[in-house]
Amino acid sequence: MASQGIKRIGLLTGGGDCPGLNAVIRAVTKTAIMNHGVQVIGIEDGFLGLVQNRIHELLPEHVSGILTVGGTILGTSNKCNPSRYCTGMDDRGQPVFKDVTDRCMDHLQHWRLDALVVIGGDGTMSCAKDFVRRGVNCIGVPKTIDNDLIGTDITFGFQTAVETATCAIDRIHTTAASHHRVMVVEVMGRNAGWIALHAGVASGSDIILLPEIPFDYGVICDFIAQRHRHHRSCTIACVSEGARPVGGKQIVNHHDPTSPDPVRLGGIGKIVADEIERRTGAESRVTVLGHVQRGGTPIHSDRLLGTRFGYQAIELLMSGVRNRLVVMRNHKVTDIDLLDAADKQRLVSLDDPLIAAARAVGTCFGDAPGE
Ligand code: F6P
Repeated sequence: MASQGIKRIGLLTGGGDCPGLNAVIRAVTKTAIMNHGVQVIGIEDGFLGLVQNRIHELLPEHVSGILTVGGTILGTSNKCNPSRYCTGMDDRGQPVFKDVTDRCMDHLQHWRLDALVVIGGDGTMSCAKDFVRRGVNCIGVPKTIDNDLIGTDITFGFQTAVETATCAIDRIHTTAASHHRVMVVEVMGRNAGWIALHAGVASGSDIILLPEIPFDYGVICDFIAQRHRHHRSCTIACVSEGARPVGGKQIVNHHDPTSPDPVRLGGIGKIVADEIERRTGAESRVTVLGHVQRGGTPIHSDRLLGTRFGYQAIELLMSGVRNRLVVMRNHKVTDIDLLDAADKQRLVSLDDPLIAAARAVGTCFGDAPGE
């Protein structure tokens, strides 16, 4: 039986896709329909589908068999913020923006939606904030491979991305050893070094470069030279796309002016590899893992996390609470105010125990010793 007046809920996935989205969609849909008799209405391509009224009902048969499948059956977009919607380009090639929140509100009313479950990262929660202010009850579910959403110890998708990156670096290790090369692997993560830190430590990378710890080329090259003196003929560097040298800037791959977060990072891996080769003479190569980290089958822990988060989102709604974000804290699924998570990023803390452990086993973070 539906309770608290909730009979129909909207469900959308926003921002970049990641493994585990379908596990959440499945858990939300099945819990709502089978446990509470609530109808679930799927919105295509995140907030873009709400703007364009591309919306359809989700039934249990639509979500059957998707637990193990990567991506999102609803589609997603990381380019749509209804309060700043790009309607086209002007004569000078600049994007023209318009607030289309009213149009979205009409669509919510047309579909008689009593609440929205929004699955996304900080950008999606920031869009949801505008609807919360207009009285729409939004329950957020934290998603992103970057693991950078504030308020939760973990987002789903992160662990699969780390597993993918770790396996890739393991493979790179053997070819690095055969050729006695320096291999630089660039991983995603935006301004947060979570993927680089976890995949770097798990793969035994010799050097790990994070956005949170600006690096010094002199320190890195001395470290490599010392390894060579100790007959370690290959070196693996796991580099976050947001890493930068001391006093330097992050490398921007391109700007997408139509996107709420227009900066796309990328390219630091090649710069690091070239500089290492120039300074040390060691033959160096770069591999950019890119969207491989976002695709494919979620590992078991993301299936479990997605299922727990999706279930909790519906239980929260049915208990009558409003505008909460489902989070994981100290291994417990709980919830916080959704507005507290919008527009903020959770970065790696310099006293993270994993950094201390990595330093203890000889990993170089590119910073000068003692700093
Ligand atoms: O936020 C997830 C993420 O994969 C980041 O790690 C990366 O910087 C960005 O999205 C890439 O975005 P796009 O898919 O638009 O290239």
